[in-house]
Amino acid sequence: MAETKPRVEEDFAQLRQFLLSRCGFDLGAYKLEQMRRRLEAAMFRLGVTSYAELLRRLREDPKAVQDLIDRLTINVSEFFRNPEKFHQLETVILPRLLRRWPRLRAWSAGCSYGAEPYSLAILLREVTGRSDHQILATDIDQAILERARRGEYTSEEVKNVPIQRLRKYFDQKDNLYVVHKEIKSMVEFRRHDLLRDPFEDGWHLILCRNVVIYFTEAAKTQLYTRFYHALADGGVLFIGATEQILNARAIGFTSPLPFFYEKTPLKER
Ligand SMILES: C[S@@+](CC[C@H](N)C(=O)[O-])C[C@H]1O[C@@H](n2cnc3c(N)ncnc32)[C@H](O)[C@@H]1O
Repeated sequence: MAETKPRVEEDFAQLRQFLLSRCGFDLGAYKLEQMRRRLEAAMFRLGVTSYAELLRRLREDPKAVQDLIDRLTINVSEFFRNPEKFHQLETVILPRLLRRWPRLRAWSAGCSYGAEPYSLAILLREVTGRSDHQILATDIDQAILERARRGEYTSEEVKNVPIQRLRKYFDQKDNLYVVHKEIKSMVEFRRHDLLRDPFEDGWHLILCRNVVIYFTEAAKTQLYTRFYHALADGGVLFIGATEQILNARAIGFTSPLPFFYEKTPLKER
């Protein structure tokens, strides 16, 4: 017998509550349709046909819970994603920040398998000749962080890395490109949920790119406001090339270039 609509909604609510209490993952802060589509794909793979059945399976099998979360959070990434934006980061934004803070403190929030923080580490090494900058890279997805720490990439994932940098900062192992130790040592990977965990402050640069696309508008505004408070005065937030902060001025940001938002103290605006 087909389940009634209120029954489905109730089961969905229970599933949401389970994921929230078991591992702090809040389905409710993500766009509902996207999450439902991904849940349905995951259910199909597990051979279950209802949220209630999925919930039973998750209660019995803790590994299935982690697997589900890995599939609900999309991890697509690449080195120097949108190379023209990374070029602006290298030639305009980093020199400005480095004049003020020669030893940069940067946070890659939603770093996936590490291509983003390692790209930044390579840029900082190139621009300053030093590797004593601090880069924190966080993600909600534990499994992807393990991959990030290994630092091994396919030729597709490094396709935007210019050949001189590829030779200088990667070793080739079988068909993979492995990030050099020196670049790895610049990045600390840590699990962190942007929707629930506290933020450190005093950041000079925050990258949060292609993460909020799945968040509700309310969750986005809250997140951008928290980033604003986590930045040092004059610090910059770098977002994805299809994203925009609609209420940037109201939050307190000015935008020196599209996709870059600076925390500008009131008296300087
Ligand atoms: C599409 S990837 C973007 C990776 C990289 N920033 C880029 O632009 O290439 C999105 C990442 O956000 C992470 N993510 C999703 N929800 C999150 C949350 N609440 N807290 C932290 N990371 C989250 C996912 O696990 C995924 O690795």
